[in-house]
Amino acid sequence: MYTDIAKDHFAHPRNAGVMPDAQGEGSQENPACGDLLKVFIKVNGGRIADIRFQAFGCSATIASGSMITEMAKGKSLSEALAISDQSVSEALGGLPPNKRHCSTLAAETLHQAIEDYRKKL
Ligand code: FES
Repeated sequence: MYTDIAKDHFAHPRNAGVMPDAQGEGSQENPACGDLLKVFIKVNGGRIADIRFQAFGCSATIASGSMITEMAKGKSLSEALAISDQSVSEALGGLPPNKRHCSTLAAETLHQAIEDYRKKL
């Protein structure tokens, strides 16, 4: 069902929490299941210098949020925008088919945080 990588990210989420002084913020809810994800970023020199996430939902959403923060940290904004739901799922060793939309939620929320940052420039 879940891989050891996914279980580890669920049990020990990386970069979890709020970021009151975030420069960009994304907040997405999946209307079908009600899962909510928030992503906060700080940018320095065109790269994601710091990132946090908050998840209110299933274990796959928590694992996807945790994984995407690790994948995005240190990346340029264009590199971070290229992180897809597929790459999050693959990094977790694969998600069950009925949980693939959790990685989609993570990718869309990260992309929204980057767009929010760009709008504020
Ligand atoms: Fe819907 Fe996780 S069950 S996003």
